Amino acid sequence: MLSRSPGQAHASLSPGAALVNQEGCLACHSLRGSGGTAASRLEYIGSHRDAGWIADYLENPAAFAQDTGMPAYPHLQKDQRILMGDFIVAAAATSRAR
Ligand code: HEC
Repeated sequence: MLSRSPGQAHASLSPGAALVNQEGCLACHSLRGSGGTAASRLEYIGSHRDAGWIADYLENPAAFAQDTGMPAYPHLQKDQRILMGDFIVAAAATSRAR
């Protein structure tokens, strides 16, 4: 009971939130004040992008900007990428409401 795998630790998160954690997005982006500072806050991104755009972007960021520091996530299914996009947009809406 004392040691928990990352999967168990995130078991109560929504699927989109769990993917953002599992895929390591927070190494570079921050969310709710914690995470990396190499890239924009996810709340900022979610305030001016929609879930479909984010899903397309995650598959191949180099198609949007050459020499980007943003890794591609082509191993994820489109529905998984949309779940992450939905989560990021919802996180932005929640942070605006506060
Ligand atoms: C190695 C660091 C790194 C990781 C890991 C990373 N990102 Fe990024 N991300 C960046 C950088 C740097 C940019 C800015 C790229 C540019 O402007 O070309 C970016 C840009 C983005 C954008 C586009 C922002 C916009 O409005 O133009 C989205 C969406 C995004 N990241 C989401 C994610 C998600 C979701 C994950 C996890 C699946 C993730 N990132 C993982 C570094 C990272």
